[in-house]
Amino acid sequence: MTLNGQDYVIWHNPKGEVFALDNICPHMQAPLSDGWICQEKDTIICPFHALEFDGEGRLQQGEKNDTQPIIKPLELIISND
Ligand code: FES
Repeated sequence: MTLNGQDYVIWHNPKGEVFALDNICPHMQAPLSDGWICQEKDTIICPFHALEFDGEGRLQQGEKNDTQPIIKPLELIISND
């Protein structure tokens, strides 16, 4: 989706939690919305080189996960449905 000229990728997990990140991979600017979701880990995977990010924009690398986001998340406020 585009909000105020900024593109975001939005996804949700089976529990209904919703995540939104800037729709651009920090590696080589691929659109994350062309990637895929890992429902086991609630992450999104870049379509170009398969870097994986959680809903907070932190890089996920197996056992070594970054603690600081490298993609800006969009703060979501969800009311009712
Ligand atoms: S452009 Fe996303 S992993 Fe390379």
